[in-house]
Amino acid sequence: MIPMARPVIEELDVEAVTRTLYSGYWASGPEVRAFEAEFAAYLGVRHAIAVTNGTVALHTALLGLGLQPGDKVLTTPFTFIATSNSILHCQAQPVFVDIDPTTFLLDLNAVEQALSQHPIKAVVVVHLFGQMCDVLRLRQLCKQADVSLIEDCAQSHGATYKGKQAGTVGDVGTFSFYATKNLPVGEGGMVTTHDDALAARMRCLINHGRTGGYEHAFVGYNYRLTDVLAALGRTQLARLSEGNHRRMAIATRYREGIQNPFLKHPFVLKEAGHVFHQYTLRCRHRSLLQEHLRLRGISSAVIYPMLSYQQKAYIALGLDGFHCPHAEQITGEVLSIPIYPSLRDEEVEQIISACQEFSL
Ligand SMILES: Cc1ncc(COP(=O)(O)O)c(C=O)c1O
Repeated sequence: MIPMARPVIEELDVEAVTRTLYSGYWASGPEVRAFEAEFAAYLGVRHAIAVTNGTVALHTALLGLGLQPGDKVLTTPFTFIATSNSILHCQAQPVFVDIDPTTFLLDLNAVEQALSQHPIKAVVVVHLFGQMCDVLRLRQLCKQADVSLIEDCAQSHGATYKGKQAGTVGDVGTFSFYATKNLPVGEGGMVTTHDDALAARMRCLINHGRTGGYEHAFVGYNYRLTDVLAALGRTQLARLSEGNHRRMAIATRYREGIQNPFLKHPFVLKEAGHVFHQYTLRCRHRSLLQEHLRLRGISSAVIYPMLSYQQKAYIALGLDGFHCPHAEQITGEVLSIPIYPSLRDEEVEQIISACQEFSL
């Protein structure tokens, strides 16, 4: 079977991890500082703070921005559950807004309308599947409404919009280094910001509110990344651009090679640098397509089969009163096919042929 992900480990990764294990620095040492500095330089942002995963990166961002229990936070229901869970972790309330069905990203007209209707404190936008939304327009909308903007970049390391890097436009950017991400470490995360005071607050938050020695100014968390993972993060970061280019080349080949009236390709915004964390087709006969691919040795995945507010966990909290018709339709049609740097040319061609052969 061609899998949905195939992480690559090279000699350089093994050397970096081994060197760190023998260095005697296992926590918050020089590898973490170097990873943060290199990540900040890659994005062109003043501060990058390493944390244990993308979920706590979001939690840190929301707390750092001063979110209070009961505050309302606008976000998308078509994302991994962590996006809205981080809002609930602050005892705040997610307000779900519909997506644009062509891009799968937050519908900015719906955002504008919601900002005028609800007392919103923050917006968490997700640059889903590797594509940024029109984050410049969104920043403008947030500024006008005096609302904080968090970019959830768990799926968009290296993505751009009008030349702006994901994670550099909002008040805070958050990243995940989960095993299948464009920058994979296993588990890990990063928060990014240009704001010195906010960075200092978030650095304190991830270290039990520590201000020095055994002094603690407020109740914080232990969200620190280990040096061993930071060492791996550095070698993976060095290969991020190359990996993203390979993803883009595969996406171009899919777009040229798959010409099937039953399948709709992902829509790429004119000024977006899409890094194809996922290549997500739309098909009204999705289960037939998935079975057709499986019989030809090709894995695929429904990302996501359900919206956040449709989950049992959210229904139990009384958060099922939302209605986002585009997002609801999309969950019944999306199917992601393999796309990652280690996918071989012959596998790409096998996937194209299988998609071409699909009919009812
Ligand atoms: C959009 C999005 N946000 C947040 C997260 C959470 O990241 P992590 O799994 O590192 O906690 C993920 C991870 O899958 C994600 O895809």
